[in-house]
Amino acid sequence: MRVRAVYGRRVTRLVDVPEWKALAAHHAAIHGAHLRELFAADPDRGAALATDAADLHLDYSKNRITAETVGLLVALAEATGLRQRIDAMFAGGKINVTEDRAVLHVALRAPESASIVVDGEDVVPKVHAVLRKMGGFAERVRSGEWKGFTGKPIANVVNIGIGGSDLGPAMAYDALKDFSDRRLQLRFASNVDGADIWEALHGLDLAETLFIVASKTFTTVETLTNARTAREWLVGALGDEKAVRDHFVAVSTNAAEVANFGIDTENMFEFWDWVGGRYSFPSAIGLSLMVAIGPDHFRDMLDGFRRIDEHFRTAPFDRNVPVLLGLLGVWHRNFFGAQTHAVLPYNNELSRLPAYLQQLDMESNGKSVTLGGEPVEWDTGPVVWGTPGTNGQHAYYQLIHQGTTMIPADFIGFCRPNHAVGDDDGGHHDLLMANFLAQTEALAFGRTHDTPHRTFAGNRPTNTILAPQLTPSVLGQLVAVYEHKVFTQGTIWGINSFDQWGVELGKALANRILPELSGDATPTHDSSTNALIRRYREGR
Ligand code: F6P
Repeated sequence: MRVRAVYGRRVTRLVDVPEWKALAAHHAAIHGAHLRELFAADPDRGAALATDAADLHLDYSKNRITAETVGLLVALAEATGLRQRIDAMFAGGKINVTEDRAVLHVALRAPESASIVVDGEDVVPKVHAVLRKMGGFAERVRSGEWKGFTGKPIANVVNIGIGGSDLGPAMAYDALKDFSDRRLQLRFASNVDGADIWEALHGLDLAETLFIVASKTFTTVETLTNARTAREWLVGALGDEKAVRDHFVAVSTNAAEVANFGIDTENMFEFWDWVGGRYSFPSAIGLSLMVAIGPDHFRDMLDGFRRIDEHFRTAPFDRNVPVLLGLLGVWHRNFFGAQTHAVLPYNNELSRLPAYLQQLDMESNGKSVTLGGEPVEWDTGPVVWGTPGTNGQHAYYQLIHQGTTMIPADFIGFCRPNHAVGDDDGGHHDLLMANFLAQTEALAFGRTHDTPHRTFAGNRPTNTILAPQLTPSVLGQLVAVYEHKVFTQGTIWGINSFDQWGVELGKALANRILPELSGDATPTHDSSTNALIRRYREGR
């Protein structure tokens, strides 16, 4: 049953959809089942509840589900118009209804032969023109042809941006350091806390430092404040305002503000309003990463994204990795009441992946009104968090194993390391992966014991994503999987995953408070905020 128009208002409340009610009844019947029983009842369960997308293998058998659950979840996806919304997104439909925008991060990795039309214009040639410009620039910096103001080649690149203009390249640089030119140092400054830009520039020779100011809007106060400080220090160090031209480039959709800042728009790398900030990492926002890893590796990464886009668009929902992950998230969030979702990469290079996914997921699906503006009557996005294994095992896994809260988790691991360290029998990596496998086994099956304190109840849900090795392509695949997972969930919940009005109020209030911190006018807020402002003024 189709329950809503593709772009807009819900026709039927989600909780009244028959497929939702069927899931509620099914949950009542099976929620008490134990994974021990489910595995004992079906010797093939591990193989049956597993699937592949490009290089990623997903085993989702260690969730409290049966084949019937999957069928019912898929029916819900169909009933809530997921197929139509996927088609609308890929076709350039303006599915971001509150901002009247298309949602086309998939166009950023579309092949040159594709055609995607927005407002009467094919966007694919524009995407490839910018990619070529980025490639030319990255090669000039990497080869030493691009010189700083004093004639020195560039040795350091500092990306100044925040949120989607920082988290993607920062996460990917850590992930792909092995593929980068180690003679170049890449650093990131995002926080308006002066400590961040100070540390980012500490010890650098500014004569060989290039700043990439990355901001979709080019009005973000943190980014502009850091960029102005960097410009002031650069001009101070090199003694000439003209140095800015050789040391600053911009990535933005806003040429007027880039020019206003004093960056030549020749040195601006463009993207477009149909790329959401948190979906912008495969756009020109990835320029700093491209300088570090080179255009060929960057293209490999885009190819990885594209392989998952194709899978998401065409694979049947019951074998579609992003759809399955999204549906399992709905199962846990809405039927088991799970409030958080952990992402646990068994790979140190992915240490920033959870932070990247926090913005992707929580800024997208942290919503409490539907596309049509009515309050939602069901839970939406969970809190997303995590750190690399095995570190987490010695910190918070205790609660995942024996606490009172169900914490569904994604375990992400690789067959081969980028750093083979240790002896021929696998060394560090086998040890890491033994832990990876042991944790999901322990979480699922637990352990009975005479003493209650040593008993592990088990039955704790996990997904396992296993890939051959962390390469640029595999990183692109992983990110695309999570992008489309978030989209799947937003579609089912009937919310707009592509706006972020919730960040506005704090920005407006900060603008109001700022002059009150240095002045002596009576602050005009509530009694708590007023008292804190006065205390800050006394102490500053
Ligand atoms: O305030 C939130 C936000 O708008 C994010 O959505 C975005 O990624 C970030 O700020 C940075 O925005 P910009 O790229 O325009 O500087």
